[in-house]
Amino acid sequence: MTTETLSLEQRCADALRQHLAAGDEATLLEAYEFGRSALAEGLGVLDMALILWRTALSARHQIGEDPRLAARAQGFLLESISPFEMAHRGAREAGDALRKLDQRREEHVRRIARDLHDRAGQLLATVFFALDGLREHLKPGGDESVARLTELLHAVEDEIRRVAHELRPVVLDDLGLLPALRFLAEGLSKRSGLSITVTGSTEGRLPMRIETELYRAVQEALTNVARHSHASRVLIEVRCTTREVRCRVRDDGRGFDPAAPPASGRQGLGLRGVREGLAPLGGTVEIHSGAGKGTDVRIRIPLEVIHEHAGSDRR
Ligand SMILES: Nc1ncnc2c1ncn2[C@@H]1O[C@H](COP(=O)(O)OP(=O)(O)O)[C@@H](O)[C@H]1O
Ligand SMILES: [Mg+2]
Repeated sequence: MTTETLSLEQRCADALRQHLAAGDEATLLEAYEFGRSALAEGLGVLDMALILWRTALSARHQIGEDPRLAARAQGFLLESISPFEMAHRGAREAGDALRKLDQRREEHVRRIARDLHDRAGQLLATVFFALDGLREHLKPGGDESVARLTELLHAVEDEIRRVAHELRPVVLDDLGLLPALRFLAEGLSKRSGLSITVTGSTEGRLPMRIETELYRAVQEALTNVARHSHASRVLIEVRCTTREVRCRVRDDGRGFDPAAPPASGRQGLGLRGVREGLAPLGGTVEIHSGAGKGTDVRIRIPLEVIHEHAGSDRR
């Protein structure tokens, strides 16, 4: 026990003795002030409980069998722990507020992604139509320019779709995690030649935030496979129990030492971003890898936390 804790314990014992003797508002206020000082000095709830327990024990002779004194002692203990209770509630409310903010942000991203995907798509379709109508008014040779313009517009369309998809894949909202992962895997397979298998099930839809974070984590893991691994095969596996959802992304590539500092000297943002995204949900990511052993990324998200704090935020 540190000297600060000892002097706090002394202060607590003095304050309790005075409150047992006087039992008025002023001595009760001292209990509260003592609690505030303990909190300000960084004492944890366990330290505080220990101090109060020892103080109560040492005052037991003074309290004896007198119910009035027992009630005073109880009032004292509750008053001195109340700053901890307030801090605890404050932290919980702040956590709730953060979660709501996060949900609103996600909602916003979802709307932007949809608008980009749907509205920009419709507008471009109109432009293609108008371009087609132009052809008959063109001088000879003008066709080539229109063809070039059409080609460029197709590239713009692809780019808009890609950005919208990266912001938030529409297929994730409409069909759920597994179909979205399959869609992601197919796209990457085509671009990279990797053979990617997606297996498992989620037993129906998961809360939206869990689906989103899992999707983002797998997206990052797959990007890493494509960029760093020299693998030829990838297996994505999703499993659900009543308690948690687990997802593994395994490749047969060259592997790396997850504990070693990054070769380029800079900390990779990808895996850190995955960790940071999972943390508010109580989720974790473990990387099992080693030179020549391939890489196994294991993601876990508990299902209770989100049910408890955010309810089912499926909309
Ligand atoms: N599947 C993988 N196979 C081989 N190396 C990997 C794999 N995933 C990650 N790495 C290694 O871990 C590093 C950190 O990854 P990450 O945090 O995503 O950062 P970045 O991809 O931006 O480098 C990578 O630079 C790479 O060296
Ligand atoms: Mg990366």
